[in-house]
Amino acid sequence: MQNTVLVTGSSAGIGEEFAWQLARLGYNLLLVARRTDKLSALQKAITLKFPRQKCLTLALDLNEESATQSINNFVDLQQIELVGLINNAGFGARGAFAELSEDRQRDMVQVNILCLTRLTHAFIPYLKKQKNTFIINVASTAAFQAGPNLAIYYASKAFVLSFSEALHEELKGQIQVSALCPGATKTEFAQIAGMSDSLVFKMRVMEKQAVVSFALKNRHKAIAIPGLINKIGVIIVKLLPRSITRKLAFQIQK
Ligand SMILES: NC(=O)c1ccc[n+]([C@@H]2O[C@H](COP(=O)([O-])OP(=O)(O)OC[C@H]3O[C@@H](n4cnc5c(N)ncnc54)[C@H](OP(=O)(O)O)[C@@H]3O)[C@@H](O)[C@H]2O)c1
Repeated sequence: MQNTVLVTGSSAGIGEEFAWQLARLGYNLLLVARRTDKLSALQKAITLKFPRQKCLTLALDLNEESATQSINNFVDLQQIELVGLINNAGFGARGAFAELSEDRQRDMVQVNILCLTRLTHAFIPYLKKQKNTFIINVASTAAFQAGPNLAIYYASKAFVLSFSEALHEELKGQIQVSALCPGATKTEFAQIAGMSDSLVFKMRVMEKQAVVSFALKNRHKAIAIPGLINKIGVIIVKLLPRSITRKLAFQIQK
């Protein structure tokens, strides 16, 4: 299967929207997430609307150590020629680090950091074989400061940003690598993270369609920040001392 983009976390939210917009652009898809019913429904809907595009799904828990190897085996078995990798799967958990369960926070490190890193390492050789290839790693505006009450989430996104920026330089001319840094976006994320009542989601929330079209148009950029308010927020954070930005983040995430 040629001209294929692998999207993790594509059963909902930003990942699901990536699947739709990529299909519209003529890419074939490999969609990965846990919920089989959601993946199957999406596969059917995309195939109905874009009959020329092939859409494969793989139901997997990215918390499993073996997940990357399973995706790798599937790609080889199906003879998939990858031209894009979207490391989108991720989640947050609001609460004090010491009070949140160690398991949930380890899972966050596993999905948000380890899995993303391993998939990137596994598929760079595949992407190097094709032309006009890209990796979009979904970070967040959370990547730019420390986040008390969401400590591991903010730290995981800081990793994604730094890692992606480094790869952007290392792979220049071979693979476009971009860190997508959305601010609050209307998806299932806030509810899963226990943030529905947080100030961040009470203020301006972006639609996932706008976030994804911005990401795809700007995938040549090392850092892609959708939305003027998010861009201004990041500039302000960069101008302020970290001792202030972490206190502000704490106030917002309380
Ligand atoms: N929404 C926001 O405000 C916001 C802001 C900044 C950054 N982000 C980032 O954007 C990315 C997408 O989030 P979203 O807002 O679209 O959230 P979402 O609606 O909750 O979607 C998350 C996706 O990740 C998948 N996923 C989660 N854990 C998984 C696991 N263990 N194994 C496989 N798949 C898993 C979920 O699928 P299953 O449940 O079916 O597995 C789902 O498809 C995340 O990396 C998030 O950190 C979101």
